[in-house]
Amino acid sequence: MNGASFIERPSAAGEAISFEGFGGVRLVGESWGDRDAPTVLLLPGGGQSKSAYRHAARALADAGRRAICVDLRGHGESDWPTDARYDLDALSKDVVAILRQVGARPVVVGASLGGMAALAAVGESEVELASGLVLVDAAPGIQGEEATRVRALIQRYASGFSDVGEALEAARALSPHRSRGGGADGLAHQLRSDDGGRLRWKWDERSVSGFQAVAVAERLEAAARNIRIAVLLMRGGESNMVTAEAVERLQALFHDAEAVEIPGAGHLVASDRADEFDAALLAFLERRAPLTPSEYHEGSDSRTLRDALGCFATGVTVVTAMGDDGPVGVTANSFTAVSLDPPLILVCLGARSSSLPTFQTAGGFAINMLHIGQQPASKAFAGPQESRFSSVPWRVGRHGAPTLDDSLASFECETFSMQEAGDHVVLIGRVKAAKFEPRRDPLLFFRGKYRRLHFN
Ligand SMILES: Cc1cc2nc3c(=O)[nH]c(=O)nc-3n(C[C@H](O)[C@H](O)[C@H](O)COP(=O)(O)O)c2cc1C
Repeated sequence: MNGASFIERPSAAGEAISFEGFGGVRLVGESWGDRDAPTVLLLPGGGQSKSAYRHAARALADAGRRAICVDLRGHGESDWPTDARYDLDALSKDVVAILRQVGARPVVVGASLGGMAALAAVGESEVELASGLVLVDAAPGIQGEEATRVRALIQRYASGFSDVGEALEAARALSPHRSRGGGADGLAHQLRSDDGGRLRWKWDERSVSGFQAVAVAERLEAAARNIRIAVLLMRGGESNMVTAEAVERLQALFHDAEAVEIPGAGHLVASDRADEFDAALLAFLERRAPLTPSEYHEGSDSRTLRDALGCFATGVTVVTAMGDDGPVGVTANSFTAVSLDPPLILVCLGARSSSLPTFQTAGGFAINMLHIGQQPASKAFAGPQESRFSSVPWRVGRHGAPTLDDSLASFECETFSMQEAGDHVVLIGRVKAAKFEPRRDPLLFFRGKYRRLHFN
């Protein structure tokens, strides 16, 4: 939700940093802590500025992390786009642009409008852009009496304030739950003078009408379902903007979300209860994005082992065979070259794979390495049986196994050996024929996500 500005105290700024956002809009931020430390990107809500997070940024830096707070477009020191693009597309593309420029995948913290932009950016990306997501009093379809009240207040002051005292009154009305006192001095740097000498907030009032939270609710819900990283939903205990029920509904959409309520805080959680906000954020980071690497020991959870194995970047293949009842095919990234003489390759198939009996009896199989354009095929062959061969062009190869047309490379094999190994079967094939396409880029898989090659 747009519009909630609040009283701020001036405090030492971090190191200046800027990013090129969507459409060339310059986004201005501050960086705190060691540049090489794991990064937390903090996005304020509508009407707020990056300084809303200074308290948290200092706490993060003290805890050995790097914090980057950025003004949203149309806010603070960031550009105010001439075309007044404040829709979810523009805002989420800004977040994607920042994340790409930051590099190593940060944990993203977004409050209110910043949270919705972060949710769309992270949830709609095919590549993993973040390592964790914290939504602060943000939920799809954010509305209610409080939203109406805030909008009304913003409209009431659409022509600005005659003096700082009037602005202070408005700020207190907008942020009634703030615990730290804030006075006229602190407010001054949140205000600018317009041409007529009236005081206005340092954010573009057109952004209030530019973003319709209710209209994007379905899109945000779909984004939430797509997110696999750890999520924290933080809510102000006194917030009327985001209800406890809205958080509960949202939590159910994520694969892995926890929720925490900050007692006494209203919608502007980070400034209403700064110490409690910092503590909840740091506790989540310590648990879900620890500074020390995660460790696996035999017998502990296989999820950690899976994550450790996911650090090995691979290509993606579709392994196929022809059975009496037709072709079978399975997406697999466990491919390995074994021997040149004799020419042997292997793939590991799950012992519970419904296609395994066909692979065990077919006498041969093919391994199709996928190129970047074949991501749909990778998805299809990891999905329902009926959507596999019907979704891609394929033919029966010279040695009897199905091959997918135009793959990056296809290897037709005769089964050389099969070895049961734990919950998988190692299938070794003797290569009878191989063909490859020298110009295309591979489809890559790393840490549970599809990737592409990057060249400088
Ligand atoms: C990128 C990717 C890599 C995969 N790698 C393997 C693999 O190496 N071995 C395997 O058995 N399943 C792997 N799977 C899972 C199978 O493709 C998936 O479970 C498939 O539905 C199994 O087919 P089935 O229904 O015939 O058993 C992978 C899935 C994806 C998306």
